[in-house]
Amino acid sequence: MKDTFFVSTPIYYSSGRLTIGHCYTSIICDCIARFKRMQGYDVFYLTGTDEHGQKVEEVAKKHGISPQQYVDNLYADIVKLWDLLNISYDKFVRTTDDYHEKCVRDIYQQLMDKGYLYKAEYSGLYCTPCESFWTPSQLVNGCCPDCGRHVTTETEESYFFKLSQFGDRLLKLYEDNPDFISPKSRMNEMINNFIKPGLKDLCVSRTTFSWGVPLPFDEKHIAYVWIDALSNYISALGYNSTDTTLFDKYWPANIHMVGKEITRFHSIIWPALLMALDLPLPKKVHGHGYINFNNDKMSKSKGNVVYPEPLCARYGVDALRYFLLRELPANGDTNYSNELLLNRINADLCNSLGNLVSRSLAMVEQYNGGIIPRPTLSLDVDNMLIETANGMYDKVVNMIDSINIPSALEDIFDLISCANRYIDLTTPWALAKDVTNKDRLDTVLYNLCESIRLSALLLSPFIPHTAKRIYAKLGLGQLPTQFGDKVNWGNLPTGIKVDKGDNLFVRLNITKELEAL
Ligand code: MSP
Repeated sequence: MKDTFFVSTPIYYSSGRLTIGHCYTSIICDCIARFKRMQGYDVFYLTGTDEHGQKVEEVAKKHGISPQQYVDNLYADIVKLWDLLNISYDKFVRTTDDYHEKCVRDIYQQLMDKGYLYKAEYSGLYCTPCESFWTPSQLVNGCCPDCGRHVTTETEESYFFKLSQFGDRLLKLYEDNPDFISPKSRMNEMINNFIKPGLKDLCVSRTTFSWGVPLPFDEKHIAYVWIDALSNYISALGYNSTDTTLFDKYWPANIHMVGKEITRFHSIIWPALLMALDLPLPKKVHGHGYINFNNDKMSKSKGNVVYPEPLCARYGVDALRYFLLRELPANGDTNYSNELLLNRINADLCNSLGNLVSRSLAMVEQYNGGIIPRPTLSLDVDNMLIETANGMYDKVVNMIDSINIPSALEDIFDLISCANRYIDLTTPWALAKDVTNKDRLDTVLYNLCESIRLSALLLSPFIPHTAKRIYAKLGLGQLPTQFGDKVNWGNLPTGIKVDKGDNLFVRLNITKELEAL
């Protein structure tokens, strides 16, 4: 039996078009899911949409359609976008799905039966777009610390979840599992900003709107959207349903991937809820940083939002995937600018990777009729290439496991640079001038093709479309579904015919592109 690996994105709000920032969470999960599948894990990659709440109700009204119609349209848009971005999810959960709503009601009933809920009057500062309550000290300049918009005072009779009882258990969880929240800085933030000052009981029902899941024991109360939303991670697996096969197989999650602003929901409220339900806890919550625009938070009201579709249409999906995966550091935020994107495309994808492939395959075509030759005469200079290539898989695995994606890419591009340097050092064009150098030339050409194969194989979870093209150019057909022994040097067969074809990436004229964007 294969080991299982469950990775999830947050479920996306169905209240507007998604930006490249939103896409990042799905792309990084996709990269990890693909990598783990190729390592031989039985992967379950979950994503979905967060379709309830006051905001949806309000926006739908503005559009003159029902909330259900509204979320149906956005759901269709997101599925289309995930297809465009090559997101290989295994399940898409919607919080308006019947099984999900039933699961949420069951969860509330269990919490009630176990004595974790009580009814009381609530008055608090609420940010409607973020669906979050804040205390006065958490506000920034009197506004929501997440989105910067105004908060309103809401008073209503609500049910409360006894979150305050879980502080010590959460601290113990973090202490016993130092990797539970990553990066480390976010764990400190949770402890110092939220748990140590004392957790407050959480208001978990609303009566001021109706677009949500009514509580089973008091139908005029609607489930708090965050409890509704967090439950997706287990409702999607069939928790408490008539078929719990997926839940039994994949729960607990290996990684809940989330943006930094929602880490606290996933590392405080979610584990507390699971503790209350007596369920196993996820192994890791990773709070990634933000993609900003020219050093400023992307926001529709500021008009600095970047959408993925036009960039994909102009430069290809892999250019965007590569940029996002390469640029966002494991611990911090990054900036998007058109110039940064264009420079990455030119420097890494076109000059480094693209040139290696086109130069090498052009030489195989020119000097050996397009056939990958047999390597028969090795020299010392080959060792630096072969050693770099042989150590690469383990390095990349390490980086993927520590969710350091830019370093994984940097490592693979070290191999690509090394192969480019190898061309300059071995000068195949000089070897080709003298037939007595044939054995040496064959060896150099083989080593180049083998470096390209290995780079493409390792790059395939990051930029699947490009990796597929490289495999086809090498005459290797389909990309393997598993790494297996394919990560070893020497796996490339000889005697097959390459096809250089078009360049992988076209070199961009930055000035012209900047004018066009
Ligand atoms: N619906 C909630 C999640 C509920 S999960 C139980 C939500 N949705 S969201 O659509 O607003 O965000 C989805 C993901 O996109 C989050 O991981 C969020 O951090 C990410 N991003 C949205 N904008 C972003 C950037 N500019 N940069 C990086 N990621 C950001 O939150």
